[in-house]
Amino acid sequence: MDSGLRSLLSDHSRYVESFRLFLQNSTEHQCMQHFIETKLPDIISSIGNDKPVIDVLGIGSGSGEIDLQMIAKIQARWPGVSINNQIVEPSAEQILGYKERVAKAPNLGYVTFSWHHQTSSEFEHRVTEDKQMTKYDFIHMIQMLYYVKDVPGTLKFFKSCLAPNGKLLIILVSGNSGWAPLWKKYGQRLPLNDLCLYVTAGDIAEMLSSMGARFQSHELQSDMDITKCFIEGDKNGELLLDFLTETCDFRKNAPAELRDQIICDLKSPRCSTTKDGKVIFNNNLSVIVVEAD
Ligand SMILES: C[S@@+](CC[C@H](N)C(=O)[O-])C[C@H]1O[C@@H](n2cnc3c(N)ncnc32)[C@H](O)[C@@H]1O
Repeated sequence: MDSGLRSLLSDHSRYVESFRLFLQNSTEHQCMQHFIETKLPDIISSIGNDKPVIDVLGIGSGSGEIDLQMIAKIQARWPGVSINNQIVEPSAEQILGYKERVAKAPNLGYVTFSWHHQTSSEFEHRVTEDKQMTKYDFIHMIQMLYYVKDVPGTLKFFKSCLAPNGKLLIILVSGNSGWAPLWKKYGQRLPLNDLCLYVTAGDIAEMLSSMGARFQSHELQSDMDITKCFIEGDKNGELLLDFLTETCDFRKNAPAELRDQIICDLKSPRCSTTKDGKVIFNNNLSVIVVEAD
């Protein structure tokens, strides 16, 4: 059903601002950092065996905060080995942020960076047409598969880009998070369009199983403080509400009945818990690690 609401992604600066607020109000990156510290070293332990250069590909890397932490773990495992880091990112603003981060980062001596200002499907078309089938030792897609039209095709393509011993790491919201009931109940009435799919890690696991891929999943606990979403007129609360609904200026533009139902459900135990007067949304994530064939 076409709700007439505008996708948040159609207003790029509003999207970037609401994503920044989401990161500020959630433990999204902290729980990824904990995973990178505790689990990633084991996952990447054999990706670079006997290689003079380790090839890494980041899809939808944003401004690279998580990428650089993962690169540091690869460097720690293979000190002095060159890393060729390719990044596919359609937002010029995010690429600029990534370049600024790299310029300020110490210890990136053996790492080269190449940015492709493209979507994942544009990248796929280009490398297929040019027959540039580089194989990668580590590919990651962190919180980006929502924005891809053909998810099974994308998984199949990037899995085929893995070198022997290579790993494809995917992070998405967990099927057990507060996002899943929200999208299930309201996905049809929110701006579900070419730009955003309401897909969870549970859906990805089913797709991978049906293609016979070998993979493991890890659950990450994460919270998001959404208390401000319930304060009418609070600018940050409204941007967070936009992020939760993927809708541009949701409070102003949504039909009153839809707006009131969503605001009520966001407080419900299926989505959130209330602690010390704060409403804490369940932002649990899943990490899926796919093996090369
Ligand atoms: C939610 S952000 C995640 C950024 C980063 N991976 C992180 O976790 O901090 C999603 C990113 O995917 C990018 N993106 C959106 N559509 C894309 C597409 N079709 N192909 C590749 N990246 C895309 C966005 O520009 C944005 O940087």
